Amino acid sequence: MTVHFIGAGPGAPDLITLRGQGLIAACPVCLYAGSLVPAALLDHCPPNARIINTAPMSLDAIMDEISAAHAAGHDIARLHSGDVSIWSAMGEQLRRLRALNIPYDVTPGVPSFAAAAAALQVELTLPALAQSVVLTRTSGRASAMPPRENLAAFAATGATLAIHLSIHTLDTVLADLIPHYGPDCPVAVVWRASWPDQRIIRATLGTLSQGLGAELERTALILVGPALGEEGFEESSLYAEGYDRRYRPIGTAPRFPDTST
Ligand SMILES: C[S@@+](CC[C@H](N)C(=O)[O-])C[C@H]1O[C@@H](n2cnc3c(N)ncnc32)[C@H](O)[C@@H]1O
Repeated sequence: MTVHFIGAGPGAPDLITLRGQGLIAACPVCLYAGSLVPAALLDHCPPNARIINTAPMSLDAIMDEISAAHAAGHDIARLHSGDVSIWSAMGEQLRRLRALNIPYDVTPGVPSFAAAAAALQVELTLPALAQSVVLTRTSGRASAMPPRENLAAFAATGATLAIHLSIHTLDTVLADLIPHYGPDCPVAVVWRASWPDQRIIRATLGTLSQGLGAELERTALILVGPALGEEGFEESSLYAEGYDRRYRPIGTAPRFPDTST
């Protein structure tokens, strides 16, 4: 018996991995984080599967369900939204499973920042403009930020920021960012990326808050940084005519001679 932690993707039911889908289909028990996991994924569960929405449950109650399935010898599909490596509460479940000697494995999923970037049709790392993406959030009721991890500190690097769990504090976010990026820096908000009601706003840090209202309460990601709006960036060396590389050796004495012939 194994607990399979599975990244369920950002919302569109076809944005799950084939491995994740196969595991759901093979498990007689499915626990899913109902607030963001799309219900359509549950259609992959086998007939008569025990399907439980863990959104209203405590960690103790979730562990009771897992222990009962373990005692019955049933595999479990444990679904969390996006990818399981960020803000999934998987870590505390894995620690309990280790203490109980219950086996588990982990299958990654498409994270929401990647779905938001796809919706915007942007590359978050552009040559010379931004070569790092910071996945971060601001303090919430359930989780305080470690003191050194603050938006101003990340903004000071000029990297692309993907700010989760923070749309409801947009004014504070903007106040922290503008001194570092400037009011003309491009920013985008993507609500419910990949869901049928996905919505996008592109703006600058100085103009974003105009006209925003009720949507501040919905699931959204804030992406900010110079890479988001720039057309004048340099091309990378990777595909440049004269760039000598292993897969495209150049000149009479290439650094990586072609040995395939
Ligand atoms: C508890 S975290 C889960 C993150 C998830 N594990 C991931 O890989 O993206 C929830 C936050 O992720 C972001 N999020 C999750 N799904 C999203 C989506 N489809 N569109 C936009 N943001 C999303 C929002 O910032 C939301 O407040």
